[in-house]
Amino acid sequence: MPTDNDPILVTCGLPYANGPAHIGHLRTYVPADIFVRALRRMGRDVLFICGSDAHGTPIVVNAESKGMSPRELVEFYHKHFEDVFRSINVRFDYFGCTDDPSNHHRTQEIVRALMERGHVYPKEIELAYCPRCERFLPDRYVEGICPYCGVPARGDECDQGCGRHLEPGEIKDAVCKVCGSRAEYRKQTHYFFRLSAFREFLLDYLQSLGGTASARNYALEWVRQELKDWCITRNMSWGVKFPGSEDLVVYVWVDAPIGYISFTEEWCRSHGVPWERYWRGKSRIIHFIGGDIIYHHCIFWPAMLQGAGYTLPSDVVASGMLKIDDKKFSKSRGYVVWVKDDYLDQGLEPDYLRYYLASYTSHTKEVNFSWKILQEKVNTELVGAFGNFLNRAVTFAVKNFDGKVPEGELDPEVMKRIE
Ligand code: 2FM
Ligand code: ZN
Repeated sequence: MPTDNDPILVTCGLPYANGPAHIGHLRTYVPADIFVRALRRMGRDVLFICGSDAHGTPIVVNAESKGMSPRELVEFYHKHFEDVFRSINVRFDYFGCTDDPSNHHRTQEIVRALMERGHVYPKEIELAYCPRCERFLPDRYVEGICPYCGVPARGDECDQGCGRHLEPGEIKDAVCKVCGSRAEYRKQTHYFFRLSAFREFLLDYLQSLGGTASARNYALEWVRQELKDWCITRNMSWGVKFPGSEDLVVYVWVDAPIGYISFTEEWCRSHGVPWERYWRGKSRIIHFIGGDIIYHHCIFWPAMLQGAGYTLPSDVVASGMLKIDDKKFSKSRGYVVWVKDDYLDQGLEPDYLRYYLASYTSHTKEVNFSWKILQEKVNTELVGAFGNFLNRAVTFAVKNFDGKVPEGELDPEVMKRIE
């Protein structure tokens, strides 16, 4: 168990470098930034890291549709997120990218360790293959019918029906998303992580996991129900090569959280600190994430770390979702607020938005954003209550104490701020 003197690593879920930052992103990053500032004020030894999530089929599909290479698209949005975080005063110590060489290296190292320890095994499966494009169709390259509920679904997720994550080969009546042809099913060897063998470990680990009860309980529920082995390879060229294979890369949900380790390594390298301090020793690792990725952080990730021999996260803090004008957040329906175009570029003060996100209900509840409430909160709470408090205090001091704060026990930091 970590103690108060152990180093603390705080991470935020990595944004996909696949589109601009919206207010839903900030729902996680702003509270994490406030938490880190508070820890620093308390004199704690804390490192705060994040970075771009560069891999996965949606990025490749999006880049293709824009006539760009995946790398060009990732570089563009990586810079965008860096700019937005700087402007909104979310100050990471390090902001990496999962396509950085250090992440390729660390991912292969971990996959090899898992293979050597018998946690990864090969298996022949039947996968959707497009005879016209002459290629296998991973994840978002395929659409079809969900084998569990019979509703039209995407290759990796039953997004309109039961919401289940779909493993490669599971989707029925597959159709190629690129050319619309009916797909065939062809055999190919893929690699599986023996997640089912981690059931007892996870049941035990999750009992003592800190952070929000929402994360712990959701994950426990899943582990009690079922744990299926997990296919960790994909037929693509964009990604981290699977060790020993020319045409397979690791699934994006393997190399993305490993970014937490490789970004720590990068920071440590430039600061002369051994990275093992955080990932092999007694540290406190706190993940701030969106409520939609609890499964990955509380099940896949700790099992991988345990299997490869790394320090386990001590806390997972899952934020509630964000609504826009009481409507479910939806980019396609226009219920979205873009941080750069709609907020920062309009000359609005970053602190107003930070204050809104930090003070509106609790961290695990749903937050509703509306411009009207923003206006009211700023006028009533910041200008009215807080501004008035300052104004009164200063006026009082001028009137009664000659504009000087009387001698007494005053925290030097408070004094400095008053001055
Ligand atoms: O859901 C997402 O937006 C992912 N890009 C989060 C990855 S977090 C971590 F595991 F890397
Ligand atoms: Zn379904």
